[in-house]
Amino acid sequence: MKAIVITGPGGVEVLELREVARPVPSYGQVLVRVHATALNRADLMQREGKYPPPPDAPKDIPGMEFAGEVAELGAGVTRWKVGQRVFGIVGGGAYAEYLVSHERLLAEIPSAMGYASAAAVPEAFITAHDALVTQAQLRASELVLIHAVASGVGLAAVQLVRALGAIPFGTARGKGKLDRAKELGLEAGWAATNDMSELTAHAKRWSGGRGINVVLDLVGGAYFPASIEVMAPLGRLMVIGTIAGRDALIPLGRVLSSRITIRGTMLRGRALEEKIAATRAFEEQVVPLFARGVLRAVVDREYPLADVRAAHSRLESNETVGKIVLRVT
Ligand SMILES: NC(=O)c1ccc[n+]([C@@H]2O[C@H](COP(=O)([O-])OP(=O)(O)OC[C@H]3O[C@@H](n4cnc5c(N)ncnc54)[C@H](OP(=O)(O)O)[C@@H]3O)[C@@H](O)[C@H]2O)c1
Repeated sequence: MKAIVITGPGGVEVLELREVARPVPSYGQVLVRVHATALNRADLMQREGKYPPPPDAPKDIPGMEFAGEVAELGAGVTRWKVGQRVFGIVGGGAYAEYLVSHERLLAEIPSAMGYASAAAVPEAFITAHDALVTQAQLRASELVLIHAVASGVGLAAVQLVRALGAIPFGTARGKGKLDRAKELGLEAGWAATNDMSELTAHAKRWSGGRGINVVLDLVGGAYFPASIEVMAPLGRLMVIGTIAGRDALIPLGRVLSSRITIRGTMLRGRALEEKIAATRAFEEQVVPLFARGVLRAVVDREYPLADVRAAHSRLESNETVGKIVLRVT
């Protein structure tokens, strides 16, 4: 089969389209013919040699999400038939014509959704849903602040927050991105500057002085302490990304007096059973909202698999709104 291989740590030039062996499904696994996959920041880090994949994933083929069809069943598989359209997350290996997945890590693609749109969904929506619902236990009418709101995860979160009856606010480093997020339900946003202390006045205005109940911090660095400053009593801060820095000062007095919960989350490194639980929650609570037109995939650009270098450069530009998709077929 054809696959994109990381030939060594480095820039986009280390990504090569090669012929490699097709994986074989073992007990409980499904062979998926991949029609489309999508990019994640983790792919960039893996390419640079800074983020080794988990042991059960191919070590040199990136790709953490996919949309495709069931091509072959391993022994013991009961949930699927050959030809069914499926999407999901994997530890790696999705930049390829075929991959293997545990049968319970797959969800069925709604009939009206094409493969390119479907590939843009799993990582962003499972991450956002798991953080908002399973971990932060978001309630209707609460206020949510999402940093890097026009990112793949950010725009998934905006839509989910609305669907749950809560109110999404956001930051991005540009008004154009905030405007795009408003088309998907963002209530209001701040075009972030380097002075994070400005966030406090915006959050005060948005919340009428009550504070923000849940923050999805997709950025880290200076965004982290600034987020704590704007939180309501009993607020929940989800640390999801550290793109602006892995270290931050914690205003402990605020954490203590407002009784704030800080939780870190990571999808890729979880045990199989935890990934299955997140996928099942996605299948039951999120996928039906796509079928009903409440949620939609946001695709920034689509590239053929062979143009993976251009796709990685586009993601690195920080100009994207939503997801970058690679067409495999
Ligand atoms: N924990 C998990 O399981 C998990 C899962 C998926 C993703 N993530 C993380 O969540 C974050 C979002 O992922 P994604 O795939 O949705 O991202 P994405 O679509 O690639 O968007 C990331 C955005 O972050 C903003 N950004 C980049 N550098 C920044 C900086 N120094 N300061 C402030 N903003 C910056 C940029 O938007 P602006 O230029 O508009 O600011 C950029 O477009 C990433 O950090 C990713 O690693 C975590």
